[in-house]
Amino acid sequence: MQHVKIVEVGPRDGLQNEKQLVPLAVKLELIRRLADAGLSAIEAGAFVSPKWVPQMADSAEVLKALDLGGAVAYPVLVPNDQGLDAALEAGAREIAVFGAASESFSRKNINASIAESLQRFESVMRRAQAEKLRVRGYVSCVVGCPYEGPIAPAKVAEVTQTLLDMGCYEVSLGDTIGVGTPASVHQMLDAVLKTAPAARLAGHFHDTYGMAIANIREALNAGIRVFDASVAGLGGCPYAKGASGNVASEDVAYLLRGEGYHTGIDLTKLVAAAWHVSDALGKPPASKLAHALGRQA
Ligand code: HMG
Ligand code: MG
Repeated sequence: MQHVKIVEVGPRDGLQNEKQLVPLAVKLELIRRLADAGLSAIEAGAFVSPKWVPQMADSAEVLKALDLGGAVAYPVLVPNDQGLDAALEAGAREIAVFGAASESFSRKNINASIAESLQRFESVMRRAQAEKLRVRGYVSCVVGCPYEGPIAPAKVAEVTQTLLDMGCYEVSLGDTIGVGTPASVHQMLDAVLKTAPAARLAGHFHDTYGMAIANIREALNAGIRVFDASVAGLGGCPYAKGASGNVASEDVAYLLRGEGYHTGIDLTKLVAAAWHVSDALGKPPASKLAHALGRQA
């Protein structure tokens, strides 16, 4: 049975977009439940400016409460050297740098052009490698941008290749605002796969237009075997107006089980985690599966 990995991004991509401040205890209980459900990589926070994303301000406290030397990886976002300093201080073993294929989105999200951001990442990468950290890369707006509209697949391929050449072990391709359809995702992957091997790519699909599952199916066909997803479909992006949450982890796990892939995930426990965090946030889960199986899953 082939393995497909789900990178759980709910505690970061999901919670970064919550309007109410999410207490540390709620974050830690969510992460505990996700690890218990079999997720082997859980993005736990972001060492970004608390003025830009207040929800991630307690990321050091989150990391300090986790078993960072165990079997589960807890990557955190790092935009610059200052973020790396804080991540190292908190004991991070894996970080993710995040760039974009759209100039306008790059400016709105990290206050830098694409070229400037890649320069910052080079410095972060050099230091991270010296500290033996694993570094993942993100490219946002791989299909469309909230400010620029459609994005050229060749630009996505170029930024992806730069991040891989820099030393990222994997690059996650983000349909940040969920505008992709299988046809546009196919076109984008076609360009990226001309230079990057499928084994070093991941898919990161937001579900704004309900296309994420179809897009994942398309990416599976293209040989991608790692997908980011967010329990209960939590989230969005604070710098991409109208973006809804990531595709729900439990819906992806259900798809993968049905397609005959091994994920190592206990669906019953994952659905229970979805209900638990949704109750804590006072809203219903956005996934289909949580409703189909109900609270008693
Ligand atoms: P800036 O304002 O240009 O930063 O922001 P600066 O270097 O000019 O510094 C200004 C202030 O920020 C200073 O503080 C710095 O100390 C502080 P002050 O002197 O004014 O008190 N600062 C920091 N504080 C904490 N941590 C840091 C840090 N760096 C500077 N690392 C910056 C530049 C990158 C910091 C800012 O734009 C930022 O934090 N952006 C983060 C935005 C973000 O987190 N977006 C969401 C994540 S990306 C995403 O969701 C997409 C993804 O899911 C994939 C997809 O869906 O496509 C990954
Ligand atoms: Mg995202």
